[in-house]
Amino acid sequence: MADLLIPDDSVMQKLGEVFNRDMVEFALQKTYSFAKLMSYYRCAMMEIETKFNVLNEEFSLMFDRQPINSIKTRLKNPISIREKLIRRGYEMSVESIEEHINDVAGIRVICSFLDDVYMLAEALKKQDDIEVITEKDYIKKPKANGYRSLHLIVSVPIFLQQEKRVMKAEIQLRTIAMDSWASLEHQLHYKKDNDFDTLMEAELKYCADLSAELDARMDLLRTEVYQGRQGEETTGIDILQAVAGKFTDSDID
Ligand code: GTP
Ligand code: MG
Repeated sequence: MADLLIPDDSVMQKLGEVFNRDMVEFALQKTYSFAKLMSYYRCAMMEIETKFNVLNEEFSLMFDRQPINSIKTRLKNPISIREKLIRRGYEMSVESIEEHINDVAGIRVICSFLDDVYMLAEALKKQDDIEVITEKDYIKKPKANGYRSLHLIVSVPIFLQQEKRVMKAEIQLRTIAMDSWASLEHQLHYKKDNDFDTLMEAELKYCADLSAELDARMDLLRTEVYQGRQGEETTGIDILQAVAGKFTDSDID
């Protein structure tokens, strides 16, 4: 165990008055292993977030528009990890978390348009250090309640001082419309306390259909606006203009 995790003698003595010393060391060892695993998941999230930021940057230089509206990352909290292990009948251990829980590291990519969801997913899947473990396309096949998003469980390597670790992460790609529907639906369900009747469910599904139509119409509009532009060779002038747009005026020399 890392030395910095062993409390100083006075703390160990106080803990020892209540608990047996072996128990304290065991608990500290487990806490350290858990914290280390969580830190690896944070690294995996950073790697994947960077990959998407790089794609966004490249796209914005080439086509002068950004396919990514925003990226959110979250580390699953220990209580939810514990609940999921219990619910699925797995033992509670660091090894078990790594083996059975695919969504400890979560990355949500909110895209400007529907086509961008698939373009970004394909670009990521092509990268040779990314392995796709599962893919669920809730856009082509929405859930019964109307939920739409593209879900990927992937593995990505992280490079540490002494070793390379391959970590799993859940990526959810969706449009702004899909995201606003999902977050409102999540809030409503959180409040519902089991009195969500069929009429309310039908209304939610109707809203999901409206949001799907909104996405389709916006995508059509985007195709019209950008028609011809994406196939075009970007000229030197375009690139200079795009690059110039990346610098903000500043009075700091
Ligand atoms: P868990 O939901 O994580 O236990 O895993 P699963 O195997 O059911 O995975 P799935 O890919 O279906 O969903 C994973 C995640 O997608 C969820 O944790 C939510 O963040 C999101 N999600 C799935 N279905 C819905 C939904 O109906 N509404 C909302 N708001 N989010 C959903
Ligand atoms: Mg989940």
